[in-house]
Amino acid sequence: MRKTKKSEAEVAKQVNALLEGMSLAEKVAQLAQIGGAAWNDGPGAGEIIREQGAGSVLWLNDTAEFNRLQKIAMEESPSGIPVLFALDVIHGYRTIFPVPLAVAASWDPAVAERSQAVAAKEARAAGIHWTFGPMLDIARDARWGRIVEGAGEDPCLGSAMAAAQVRGFQGDDPTDPQRVLACAKHFAGYGASEGGRDYDPVDLSEAQLRNVYFPPFQAAIKAGVGSFMSAYMDLNNVPATSNRWLLQDVLRGEWGFDGFVVSDAFGVGNLLTQGFAKDGRDAAQRALEAGLNMDMASSVYLENLADLVEDGSLSLDQIDAMVRPILAVKVRMGLFENPYTDETLLEKVAAEPESREAGRWAAQRSMVLLRNQDGLLPLSKTQQKIAVIGPLADSMEATEGSWMVFGHTPAAVTVLEGLRAKLPGTAIAYAPGPEINRDVPHPFGEFNTSERKPIQTPEEAEAAFQTALETAAGAELVIMVLGENADMSGEFASRGSLDLPGRQEELLKAISAMGKPVVLVLLNGRPLSINWAAEHVPAILEAWQPGSQGGHAVADILFGDVNPGGKLPVTFPRNGNHAPLYYARTLTHLPEESPRYRSRYWDSPTTPLYPFGFGLSYTTFAFSHLHVSAAQIKAGASVTVSVDVTNTGQVAGDEVAQLYIHQKWGSDSRPRRELKGFARVTLQPGESETVTFSLGPDELRYWSASAGRWVQDAATFDLWVGSDSTATLQAGFEVVE
Ligand code: GLC
Repeated sequence: MRKTKKSEAEVAKQVNALLEGMSLAEKVAQLAQIGGAAWNDGPGAGEIIREQGAGSVLWLNDTAEFNRLQKIAMEESPSGIPVLFALDVIHGYRTIFPVPLAVAASWDPAVAERSQAVAAKEARAAGIHWTFGPMLDIARDARWGRIVEGAGEDPCLGSAMAAAQVRGFQGDDPTDPQRVLACAKHFAGYGASEGGRDYDPVDLSEAQLRNVYFPPFQAAIKAGVGSFMSAYMDLNNVPATSNRWLLQDVLRGEWGFDGFVVSDAFGVGNLLTQGFAKDGRDAAQRALEAGLNMDMASSVYLENLADLVEDGSLSLDQIDAMVRPILAVKVRMGLFENPYTDETLLEKVAAEPESREAGRWAAQRSMVLLRNQDGLLPLSKTQQKIAVIGPLADSMEATEGSWMVFGHTPAAVTVLEGLRAKLPGTAIAYAPGPEINRDVPHPFGEFNTSERKPIQTPEEAEAAFQTALETAAGAELVIMVLGENADMSGEFASRGSLDLPGRQEELLKAISAMGKPVVLVLLNGRPLSINWAAEHVPAILEAWQPGSQGGHAVADILFGDVNPGGKLPVTFPRNGNHAPLYYARTLTHLPEESPRYRSRYWDSPTTPLYPFGFGLSYTTFAFSHLHVSAAQIKAGASVTVSVDVTNTGQVAGDEVAQLYIHQKWGSDSRPRRELKGFARVTLQPGESETVTFSLGPDELRYWSASAGRWVQDAATFDLWVGSDSTATLQAGFEVVE
């Protein structure tokens, strides 16, 4: 974390004084994060804290209980060290914001920063000091459930969103009582789990790690993030939890990170399950030596570290080195002076209109218009018979989406409610149609606040299907709200197919066959292979999981009060078995750019259904006057790229100018396109704006597999600027020695 009310010298002095007075048991306790609820079958959190203190408590969301445990820590534990209360506040605490993948689709870091600032304010008002966010995993396999929690497939966009989220969560004053400590997770490479299967092993080259998966984490450090979380999975056969190269050599040695690292849940204990550690002692020693400061919930540190010091396997200095950054965070945040939370604060903060406004604004800016045949949208507000159909149309849970805060009860404005609020004088009929459910129940189901409904029988589903048809038949316009339930993406929510679950497409086809205008609104946490809809449904709005105000934002866009300007942060494959599919791939010897080689499978086209960066508007834009400040530069110098963006349509709107480069040869083969700059601009009809980008060593160097180091090659570069990753407006420049 950045600036502190106390100087770093004062912080260090206070930390050293604390360490001098602490027993080994107390130091070990600071390296433990314990479950708040009666989670572990061992002693409750209060007893552990009373006896030796605790670094942190998680999975508790109760202000009074926070204060009770903190009082024990301050007044009854041996050294009176406050506890850090931690929880997953990923996209909102009481005001739920669009899921992070949706926020990335805004291509506007201000959306990420403002959303996380509101989340921090509400979470801190509840007594939470530390959030397990932002999640920074680059994800290029849409089958992976946790793609919903990150910023998509691209390191440039992902890095901008990483820094913005850290700024939102932490602000720049660690004593600010409206901010929380952020946690860059899951370090590193988790998004490349084989087959998109959550938790599966990851094999990534050093070049892939450094060029693609590391940049968002480096951006988070630059923004001052105070903690990291190691990932669950094996990274090149070494669990990230205990990966010295990752946690010591790279994170501390190269990047100079001075915060602390917490494992993922039970990660230290999992080292046995993963076949890496022989026993708890082995796990504790190797994780600590690898640079893991805090053991989340597994108790292996608590049970083994003191013995390892006493038998000389670990030194007291090694323990102190792990405890220091944890104490430093508590000192910087002022928790010794202000350990408690006003229990009346949350309701006041949560009632602030600004939060709702921010939620609606974020949802509006994150939605992506995928199709608008013959300008069906925006819809007229004049009287017409509207039917809203689909299992998600009135689902608060699907509207708020994945990774809800522990104990949160969904309370979103659903799409149906948003539409009815928009058209108070219009009778809007509604039928859900058949429900959708996971085939394999979610293993954490009992912890997800879920609208538990009994599973429909086939007969009930068929009856619901027919009722939906009848309801649609009576309307002049049908708005279908389809996609995924909240538990169909997120953790332990990978899937093999990207099709619409259940009988949703069947229902969509049957209603489309009625010959009346159909608008499809998608609520989902990942790309979906909506191939049929993309051909046959005239209007498609990607609304993602838009949060508390999602229904209002959908209505704002469908009825033209807001012109959508979002762009896809991930490629939409035509089929789940095409994944991983992403734009920034090297050319191969038979580039797909040639029509002859466009598909790599003989049974289907492998071009994306929708490309990275794609999104439509109610107006149109043109890019012109692309200019590069120099045709040739020396390595180490920069060029400025400028382009004019013009609103060539009839209504105001936002465009996202995107700059892509391709290094045509070099030490390594380089991706055919790489995003190196973007800017979202708002333009009135006829208005133009010149957007400029800079390309210098930071943008042009890369980690070379052939050289085994960072290089900036002398080479020729193509570049394109436009409205998505298929941009055609082209220029170029050369880098010489
Ligand atoms: C989970 C997730 C991690 C989360 C942690 C604490 O298993 O992997 O993202 O922060 O446990 O809830």
